[in-house]
Parts: sequence; C-alpha cells; structure tokens
Amino acid sequence: MIKGFIFDLDGVITDTAELHFEAWKSLTDEKGWNFDREINDQLRGISRLDSIQVILAHNGISLDDSEKSDLANIKNDIYVKSLDEMTPDDYLPGAKELLTHLRTEGFAVALGSSSKNAEKVLEQLNAKPYFDIVGDGHSVTKSKPEPDIFLFGAEKLNLQPEECVVFEDAEKGIDAAKAGGFYSVGIGPEDRVGNADLRFDTMQDATLFEVKAHFTDLFS
Ligand code: BG6
Ligand code: MG
Repeated sequence: MIKGFIFDLDGVITDTAELHFEAWKSLTDEKGWNFDREINDQLRGISRLDSIQVILAHNGISLDDSEKSDLANIKNDIYVKSLDEMTPDDYLPGAKELLTHLRTEGFAVALGSSSKNAEKVLEQLNAKPYFDIVGDGHSVTKSKPEPDIFLFGAEKLNLQPEECVVFEDAEKGIDAAKAGGFYSVGIGPEDRVGNADLRFDTMQDATLFEVKAHFTDLFS
C-alpha cells in the first residue's frame, strides 16, 4: 500500500536545471570549454563534483581534486546568486497542486534531492510546509544513482520503499529509485526517464488521480 511520496527537487518541483545550465555555462565559457544543453542533461540528478567530472571528461581535461573543488565552488556561487531571483511563482506547473493534494489526502511526503542548496530553493518557493522530511545533498554521502537519498527519506518517514512513490526527472534518479525498491514516476521524455514504472511528459500531467489510476491496487 502506498503511504508516502518522495520528490526530487530540481526538474520536478521547480526548473532549476536552467539555472544550473546558466551557471555551468558561465564557468565553462570563461574557461573556453565546450558545454551545451545535451551535456547539461547528463548532469541531472548527479552531485556538483560528479558534474565537474563529466564536464572535464567531455573536454578531455584532467585536474586534481583541489582544482575541481575550486571550480565547483565558483559555479556554486553563480548558481546560489541566481536563486535569489526565485519566487513562489516558480513551481513547475502542476507541482504545487500535486503537493497540496497530497497534503489534503494525508500522505507522508519527503524531499530526496542531490542538491546542497535544496533548503534555499524550498525557502524561495515557500515550499517547506509541503514536506515532512527534507533529504538533500548533506543527508547522505553516496549520491544518485545510488538509492541512499531515497532510503534516507523512507526511513525518516517510517515507511518501507515499497510503500513509497519516487518522482524523478533524471535517468540516474530513476535508477536510484529502482535500486532502492521504490515505485517510480518519471517526469520528462522517454529517452531520459522511460525506465520509470510510470512516465509523464510534465508535472502538469502527473496528477494524483493519474498516479492512483496507474497503481490502482496499491492505493486501495
Ligand atoms: C541535482 C541537480 O538536483 O543537484 C544536479 O539535478 C546538481 O544538476 C545537483 O548537480 C547538485 O546540486 P548543488 O545545488 O548541490 O550544486
Ligand atoms: Mg532532478
């Protein structure tokens, strides 16, 4: 029986993927490195340092750990500054409606994000009241595609993985949900989240009605 929901943040609740893109682009332009939306899509769900690794590999560059960490910090400063512009109007369409519906129906809800800036994003959106538990980049050491962040959320909600549905926009996030034994809902195109148990193009399509209709036996 489904009793809880665990949401990824970036790309599910709000479109920070674009802000991450702009911050990485600003850093890579300055360095004269190649970076485009296709590479940015590969960074969905993975940690800041893993992202640097992907960008360096794409450009055939190798750096030591302290140089990587310096670059990650520069990117993060740009990204965090851009979050100041975020307001409660910046939910992805449908996200706030779904969170509200889950609250009125009494489901347990956790955040399961790889981001170390999740608290700030939730504050900018005024979204904290929708979550019983906030799991973020500070909560676990192994990031997606490892299932740890979702297992953390389920444990804090006092639920088993098979009692939770995970919402994710990243391929690695769906891999993480599956590795942890969770039901998964993918938000985005088939070639990105087609491995999910259920997929919607956008959060607007992902209503509680549709989710219940798909997993009928799990909600009775
Ligand atoms: C994930 C994003 O939610 O958080 C990734 O999808 C990002 O693109 C990761 O790299 C880490 O975020 P932050 O805010 O800690 O740099
Ligand atoms: Mg995401």
